Amino acid sequence: MESQTNTQITESTRATLSDPARTNFDNYSGHQSTVDDPDSREDAEGRIWQNYRPDKYFLPNDSTEQDRLNLIHRAFCLQLYLLQDPVERSHKVEDALLLYDDPYCLSSMLGFAKRWKLHGAFHSTIHEVACLEAIAKLSLRSAPIKGDPPRVLDIGTGTGIWAIEFARCHPESQVIGADLSLIQPDVSATVPNVSFVRADAEEEWMCGAPFDLVHARLMFSCYVSHRDVIKRVFDNLNPGGWIEYQDNSFSIDSDDNSHRGTGLHQWGHLAQAGAAAKGRDFEAARKFKDYFVEAGFVDVVEIRCKVIGSAWPSTEPEQSLGRYTSVSSFEVVKNVSRKLLGEGGLGLPEDVIQPIVAQALKDVADPNIHFYWPGYIVYGRKPFAHEIASAPSSSGTAQH
Ligand SMILES: C[S@@+](CC[C@H](N)C(=O)[O-])C[C@H]1O[C@@H](n2cnc3c(N)ncnc32)[C@H](O)[C@@H]1O
Repeated sequence: MESQTNTQITESTRATLSDPARTNFDNYSGHQSTVDDPDSREDAEGRIWQNYRPDKYFLPNDSTEQDRLNLIHRAFCLQLYLLQDPVERSHKVEDALLLYDDPYCLSSMLGFAKRWKLHGAFHSTIHEVACLEAIAKLSLRSAPIKGDPPRVLDIGTGTGIWAIEFARCHPESQVIGADLSLIQPDVSATVPNVSFVRADAEEEWMCGAPFDLVHARLMFSCYVSHRDVIKRVFDNLNPGGWIEYQDNSFSIDSDDNSHRGTGLHQWGHLAQAGAAAKGRDFEAARKFKDYFVEAGFVDVVEIRCKVIGSAWPSTEPEQSLGRYTSVSSFEVVKNVSRKLLGEGGLGLPEDVIQPIVAQALKDVADPNIHFYWPGYIVYGRKPFAHEIASAPSSSGTAQH
């Protein structure tokens, strides 16, 4: 079915390519993924960090980090797309092609492709990448929401790419992205139904009206208490509203044990221990389903998947997915190590940390290490009052 889908894309792409007005992609200037937050601080190496709640988050907020986030967004959308029922997937192809010449999609994709030399990703031509991008764009969530939920919140929105794309696909929704960093582009002229606020999700929420969908992706490292934030989501949802978390746990794994005994594996254990020393549980994603049920959500579903760590797979589309995620793996290993392994974390000296990080980076690039991060897509619904007193809640897990 996958190859059938790809064939359809290729044929449609060819048709599109016959129209010269739509093929001159060099006319697009490239998506402004770099937005500086004026309230940031620069470190000795020139990396820029949010300064709203200093040291609360372990990664910078500069252009390199913004690119990483936008690339991982592509990978997650594609992953969600591939998790869908193949029949449903093929239905989406036609809709997606309508978005094919959407300048936002094309320009953002071109910007990444140029900066990260991804021209080989997915398919041989950049036009086909654009097509797949468009399809992935429609794979923003797994929860069975209908229509345009009136009020949507994206917690820890990063560059705001999920919020912007959700708002584009759901024009009747009002979407708010909240983050410690204000690095989101101003898209008010083209996507008027999305806005961004600076907020710490662990502090009191001042949101006015309740929400109908709350989404959060890749937030496993961010809180002292996920339980408390999930409870807060529950309290700020309308009855019948949905919560969806898309995340991964930090325990590096592989199906053939090729990760065992590697420097990357060792680094992973040390980073987790460093996070624990800072009061963070990097395995939180494994527990989200339980936390959802505990908070009172019903119809809770957990979908497990493998977030491939680098471009080691020999077949498509996993190899391309891995190209996107490998940028993230490199950046994460490089950038969180000092905070987690060094002062304030495990307390290891710099001369001990350096060789551990160097080996872990080599291992990320080694195609013989078939590693992935266990992925967890978890969603649930806030029950209506009449449901609370009656039926026991249902929940389930699907493995992919
Ligand atoms: C790994 S990034 C994920 C970004 C985005 N959700 C995505 O998937 O593209 C984590 C984001 O959460 C933000 N963050 C961390 N702690 C937070 C907190 N306590 N409240 C709000 N945002 C937070 C960070 O600034 C960062 O942008």
